[in-house]
Amino acid sequence: MLPLPRPNLANVKPYKPGKPIEELIRELKLKGEVIKLASNENPLGASPKAIAAIRKFIAESYLYPDDNVYYLRQALAKKFKLDMDWVMVGDGSVELIYLACLAYLRPEDELLVSEHSFIIAKIGARVMDSRVTEIPLRDDYTHDLSRILKSINSATKIIYIDNPINPLGTIVKKRELGQFIEQVPEDVLVILDEAYYEYIATKDYPDSIKYLRDGKNVMILRTYSKIYGLAGLRLGYGLSKPEIIANLMKVRYPFNVNRLAQIAGIAALKDLRHAQRSRKINEAGKKFLYPELKKLKLFFIPTYANFIFVSFVEDSHVIYERLLRLGVITRTVKEYGFPNALRITIGTPAQNRRLIEALKQVVRR
Ligand SMILES: Cc1ncc(COP(=O)(O)O)c(C=O)c1O
Repeated sequence: MLPLPRPNLANVKPYKPGKPIEELIRELKLKGEVIKLASNENPLGASPKAIAAIRKFIAESYLYPDDNVYYLRQALAKKFKLDMDWVMVGDGSVELIYLACLAYLRPEDELLVSEHSFIIAKIGARVMDSRVTEIPLRDDYTHDLSRILKSINSATKIIYIDNPINPLGTIVKKRELGQFIEQVPEDVLVILDEAYYEYIATKDYPDSIKYLRDGKNVMILRTYSKIYGLAGLRLGYGLSKPEIIANLMKVRYPFNVNRLAQIAGIAALKDLRHAQRSRKINEAGKKFLYPELKKLKLFFIPTYANFIFVSFVEDSHVIYERLLRLGVITRTVKEYGFPNALRITIGTPAQNRRLIEALKQVVRR
């Protein structure tokens, strides 16, 4: 006999991350270099300024971190011209999604979310035993905001919108999102997850901070895991009204943002060169990969992020496994409703070439 967990945990499937490089080497005893294009990490690595800051302060690791995350929140507040109490920092941005579910969702409440969206909010809502209502995407693989709007009802408490959508890479644009936000009732929290914000060049991308200034009940999420290259440190932040942040603060555990992450976060914000190089390499990657994928007659969706959604005629798990044997880790997206697709991170030029060579071998077999 075992102690019984809460019954709704029967509906919760744990998050499945991309395969770590060390795991693949351990499992397949691969000799050559393994490349990981599975978790949308930065192929250029961590911001050099962040690395230098970590080196300088590593000996202070015996001290607990500043639980108030004062200096990093101050730096972020300055960057976005907000007061500090509008900024919350998390153990990755996923923590903040989870905390929002913990703070706001009761079993009688509903999370509204697109069918193929990033999965963490859905997991959080299921943990809280709340209803998860999934809205199909439009034919062009973008969020169907008008349908989401029509679906709002008295139970709706949180709407989660990942912009771009992971794993598809499409965005909703400024005008449409602005009109949507205007119409969402005030008692609904809209989470705008902008994990890939820094990669996006188009002027049509929403200026979501404006919604905050207009008094809307939104929480904007950004991360250090992508362009700043600090996924392993776990650092993300949310911008929202102080009253909303205060509720998330009640349900977090103490010292959720480690000391080195706080230090690295401040330094990385100043590393404009690293961000610029990262954007450039990502754009170059798209330019190389699009025609190569076309030559392979593979369906893909042009992306606003640092990953590409690629679809195959067969179960993509087979392709995934074959690529693993060639030392290339990609990501299956079956749990997102796409059993025939892979999500592939855009790498360095050498990694992208290696990916295409590997795809040529496995797709034609
Ligand atoms: C939409 C989206 N949100 C959040 C995250 C995770 O961010 P973090 O590493 O800050 O938890 C990802 C990472 O893949 C993502 O795609």
